[in-house]
Amino acid sequence: MDFMDEGRQKAMDTKYIFWSPDRGYEPSELAEAKKIIDQGGLVAFPTETVYGLGGNGLQKEAARRIYAAKGRPSDNPLILHISRFSQLKGITRRIPDTAVRLAEAFWPGPLTMIFEKADCVPYEITGGLETVAVRMPEHPGALEFLEAVSVPVAAPSANTSGRPSPTRAEHVREDLEGKIDMIIDGGEVGIGFESTIVDLTGELPVILRPGYITRQMVEEVVGEAAMDPALLSVEGDVAPKAPGMKYRHYAPEAQMKVFCGEQEAVIEAINESARRLICEERISPEEIGILATEETAAQYSVGQVVTSGSRRRDDVGRYLYGVLRRFDELHVKVILSESFYDSAKEEAVMNRLLKAAGQQVIEVDNGDGVGDGL
Ligand code: TXA
Ligand code: MG
Repeated sequence: MDFMDEGRQKAMDTKYIFWSPDRGYEPSELAEAKKIIDQGGLVAFPTETVYGLGGNGLQKEAARRIYAAKGRPSDNPLILHISRFSQLKGITRRIPDTAVRLAEAFWPGPLTMIFEKADCVPYEITGGLETVAVRMPEHPGALEFLEAVSVPVAAPSANTSGRPSPTRAEHVREDLEGKIDMIIDGGEVGIGFESTIVDLTGELPVILRPGYITRQMVEEVVGEAAMDPALLSVEGDVAPKAPGMKYRHYAPEAQMKVFCGEQEAVIEAINESARRLICEERISPEEIGILATEETAAQYSVGQVVTSGSRRRDDVGRYLYGVLRRFDELHVKVILSESFYDSAKEEAVMNRLLKAAGQQVIEVDNGDGVGDGL
């Protein structure tokens, strides 16, 4: 197989195969995916959170290819994906009792746990750390692929570094076509943002990245859990323990502002801000993006309104990354966004939204003269 040597930057043919809940895989196609991983190549595959860019998790060379394809700094470690709990023993030094309980409660599912690494896990995978991140995804297409491959699969989100994580195979194609061997198209993912990361190497479980599994859900299983102080720091002056959290992710091309406060007041403030941009800054209505939800979209009078999901269904994060990519395609100059604080899950969405906005927050007065929001 002719793999890309990034020194020569030769484009490769990216093969597409399809997975769906009704028909699963074509056996010969799954065998081809396995062969690629066995030979050190890269396969992007759907998970329930976002698409992953998979390579053999025990091979330095595969790690090097992953970093090259994504253009990702190699100090940012990768998550190993497994399909059976028994695989955990081979890649970790110690499995704490809390991990067993969390796995019983949430695996397969959108939870990544950090362990002390076994010697067989190369430092190229862990970004030089003595610890390793492991997740068992719930997506049946991911599980079947991992089961066929049988080695732990290192998989970061399958986007170019700095772009929104992919929630559809088209997003992977936009970023990685010609740079990886195969893309498994499994349609739109279910959750739409990355897994919760819990560090189990200290005395207390610590949440390093918020996700669909909330702190409260973790605490129901293990008693107390802490948040990484970097997640709570407004100034952003505390270094996060997950190296990837320090990078400015998911930045859309447009300048983005997040409006925080009571919902009706936020909608009014966004409408007002859009009108001001048009009248005073001479920005055309097509150059203004508004990030809303299914329930609120109709209440905007100007701008390109795109919805990221539904408050009622509690899935406002499901289309968020797709929406950020959409705004890039629309070439809007400014994005005015609603904020989401109604459920614990939405806190994880806010974490991504505020990163995309470079922490630009507008606190909206809720009418009582009290600023609401953060
Ligand atoms: O939902 C997900 O987790 C997706 C899908 C594909 O599974 N994967 C994902 O991978 O989001 P990635 O590489 O985009 O994000 C991995 C995060 C980074 O912030 C990285 O720094 C952190 O996990 N991480 C990995 N290993 C770590 C370790 N040993 N200690 C602390 N943080 C770690
Ligand atoms: Mg990522």
